[in-house]
Amino acid sequence: MLALKVSKLQPIRTGGVLRFIRAYSSELKPCSEFVKVTHPDLHDVTSDTNVAQELDQFKQTTLGTYNRPSLIFSHGKGLDLYAELPTSSNESKEYRHYLDFSAGIAVNSLGHSDPQIARIAGEQAERLVHSSNLYFNEWSGRMAHKLVEMTYEHGGLGIRKGAPMAPAASQLKAFVANSGTEANEGALKFARKASLVYANAPDRKTGLVCFKNAFHGRTMGSLSVTPNPKYQDPFQPLLGNVRVGELNNVSALPQLITEDTAGVILEPIQGEGGVIPAKLEFLQAVRERCDQVGALLIYDEIQCGLFRTGTMWCHSELPIDAHPDMVTMAKPLANGFPIGAVLMRSEVANAIVAGDHGTTFGGGPLVCRIAHHVLGRLSEEALLNNVAARSQQLMDRLGSITEMFADLVQSQGPRGKGLIIGLPMKKAHFASDLVAMARQRGVLILSAGSDTLRFVPSLIVSQAEVDKTMDVLESCLVVLREQNQE
Ligand SMILES: Cc1ncc(COP(=O)(O)O)c(C=O)c1O
Repeated sequence: MLALKVSKLQPIRTGGVLRFIRAYSSELKPCSEFVKVTHPDLHDVTSDTNVAQELDQFKQTTLGTYNRPSLIFSHGKGLDLYAELPTSSNESKEYRHYLDFSAGIAVNSLGHSDPQIARIAGEQAERLVHSSNLYFNEWSGRMAHKLVEMTYEHGGLGIRKGAPMAPAASQLKAFVANSGTEANEGALKFARKASLVYANAPDRKTGLVCFKNAFHGRTMGSLSVTPNPKYQDPFQPLLGNVRVGELNNVSALPQLITEDTAGVILEPIQGEGGVIPAKLEFLQAVRERCDQVGALLIYDEIQCGLFRTGTMWCHSELPIDAHPDMVTMAKPLANGFPIGAVLMRSEVANAIVAGDHGTTFGGGPLVCRIAHHVLGRLSEEALLNNVAARSQQLMDRLGSITEMFADLVQSQGPRGKGLIIGLPMKKAHFASDLVAMARQRGVLILSAGSDTLRFVPSLIVSQAEVDKTMDVLESCLVVLREQNQE
């Protein structure tokens, strides 16, 4: 962004809500330094190159569940990612640099190839990787304990920030799995089991409630509460007795959540659905309705949890009457090593007995040792200060982009919290166009929902990296505007 003049907070009213945005002088001009393509997609990689051969091999034998550009990433550091450039076998290797502003879809909160994590992973790999869940290992219990201890320190699951730890019988408990979808599978099963125990069979409750635009995963249970026809239709029939509500619609809750509802699952900020925050009064109303009918409330914080919004849980600092019974987590927990977990209140935990659920890999010593370390790092004050400062910087830059590109960006401007921020575009294809254009200029960003750009960088992102990404985005918007005027 060039020629930025002094800005001051100005009140504006959007959709009946009073917000304050920074107003910039009319001299505000977008950055156009990056209008030229510097990282062209390699559509026609010459067949005698290393990259072409690897891509060919990949495509021959790997199921095509993704449409990927012809790039093979080989290594990274912090937010930097490197992809091999095509060379013939007798030439030395060359790499092209990308700025990864997506953190591998909200995963690498501490950046790529963190040296401390690499050291710990190496040490533990030499000590013990797996010993099965038939036995205890050194790290699974320590990691679960840290999750619980930190929830007391930061707040969540009905616990006020800073409250003393409860005695063992009424303690929070964790179940450790391997991915986000598996964490949600576990939570849905625990909801049904707990309601079976408390509601006295044979009047068992089986109903599950989810919300439009939610994304909870791809396995059958999680998919059943991910009401997107694109993901669901080819795989019908899914789980029965699932109702779909509208996020933030309080008045519909009495008909939606009924005596038959065992569990309600929602993302406090919907990620894949377009970075859509749930309103506090809605969360409070859902909580109240769940209590009225004896349904369990699950917050899927797989994308928005673990300090991405600036607090441990997205709900950590909300009033207790907006807290869930279970929270699910995954993505950043081990900074890229596969893991997922459910943290639950003791009432839920007390309904689960040996044999109700299990996993071969979940809770293994390698990944749990890494997660234990990551949890400590994510809660460091300096990192959280960075989240707050970069969030403000990003909001400011996106606010001015909203003004400068009123023809392309929806007037409501950026939404979200901390470092999960969305920018809705006026036409759906603008978001996917911009993702491709930014990549062709060396910056990786994401889209979400039908029309939204999504910014979920590593929490270690620097001021310069935010500025570079926003400068590239402005340049791409300049090009997009020209293309749409032609
Ligand atoms: C909110 C949310 N829940 C669940 C999942 C599924 O996680 P996984 O891909 O690890 O199974 C995702 C993944 O994007 C997610 O964003």
